[in-house]
Amino acid sequence: QSAQKGGYKHFMLKEIFEQPRVIHDCLLGRVDHATNEVSLPELDAMPVPKRLHIVACGTSFHAGLWGKQLIESWAKVPVNVEIASEFRYRQPILEPEDMVLAISQSGETIDTLAGLRLAKEQGVKVVGLCNVVGSTIARESNYVVYTQAGPEISVASTKAMCSQLTLLTLLALYWSRRKGLMADDERKKAMRGLLGLPEVLEASLPAMRDKARFLARTYSEAKSFFYLGRGLCYPLALEGALKLKEISYIHAEGYASGEMKHGPIALVDPKFPTFALALNDALYPKVKSNLIEVQARGGKIIALTHPGLDLSVDHPWLLPEVWGPLNAFLALPALQLFAYEVADYLGKDVDQPRNLAKSVTVE
Ligand code: G6P
Repeated sequence: QSAQKGGYKHFMLKEIFEQPRVIHDCLLGRVDHATNEVSLPELDAMPVPKRLHIVACGTSFHAGLWGKQLIESWAKVPVNVEIASEFRYRQPILEPEDMVLAISQSGETIDTLAGLRLAKEQGVKVVGLCNVVGSTIARESNYVVYTQAGPEISVASTKAMCSQLTLLTLLALYWSRRKGLMADDERKKAMRGLLGLPEVLEASLPAMRDKARFLARTYSEAKSFFYLGRGLCYPLALEGALKLKEISYIHAEGYASGEMKHGPIALVDPKFPTFALALNDALYPKVKSNLIEVQARGGKIIALTHPGLDLSVDHPWLLPEVWGPLNAFLALPALQLFAYEVADYLGKDVDQPRNLAKSVTVE
């Protein structure tokens, strides 16, 4: 097994470090190199949906929440994102031109599979976004797009989410192209950004790990964490909190930072730190003022941020800046590495956390 880990202490660490290659592999066959245009031949026969319902669990659900924002803003397709275990037991309103997108790394999650079957029973077509080739969800979907991330062994999902975000970006670009919505230049800028990501990420991961290790030691005694973000960073905040809970067993809550004032801020004190995402986007000034409110209650803050921003927190964590929404691809491994380093420092079983399974195939 240690050979399979390729010299890494855990599969999780190996899989985090595989992410530059994962992005590269996801893009294989999906970029027309002559024109620098997105291509998703798997979906050419399918009409662009009128409305999309994304159904998923866990980390895949967080990827869906992120993808919704790009699909709505670029392709102007309204998107409803739902936890599969909820979707399957309500009476969702599904119209004939709607489409369900089932996101599942394993392709075997029982609730997501049940959501897929419910949609098909109602005559709605399903696209499966899966990693495992030939899995049940892939087989039962009307159309399937594979994330091509390679086997993921660690129970806590890392590289699979990176591949899902890549595909969701491509999907938003692809539907926007088919609908003739986004300016060609803008779309090509996004494609160039995606193609350049593996190199930027590869160059950043070693320093990211050092920073994560340092912060993990500084904050390892915390009993609770908030993870805060807005806009595209909100799903990442949810994912950061989930990673920390899953493998370190430290209580963590992900919140949209604008919601803090509606209750959660009551919990902040010097022993309840916050992990914030304060990247250089349109919502940065809003996030900054939310963080000032946390500091006013004595809360310590780690913040993923970009050079040149005027953020004053206990531990700013500077990431290299790339094009617009693609900054998620650098924030995600930072969140994963922090959770990893905390869990490893506390001596937890990183790859096999208690009470959890890689794939939940029974209800
Ligand atoms: C389990 C795993 C999670 C995963 C979730 C959904 O709970 O521990 O890491 O995100 O299932 O899995 P899927 O294979 O459907 O993406």
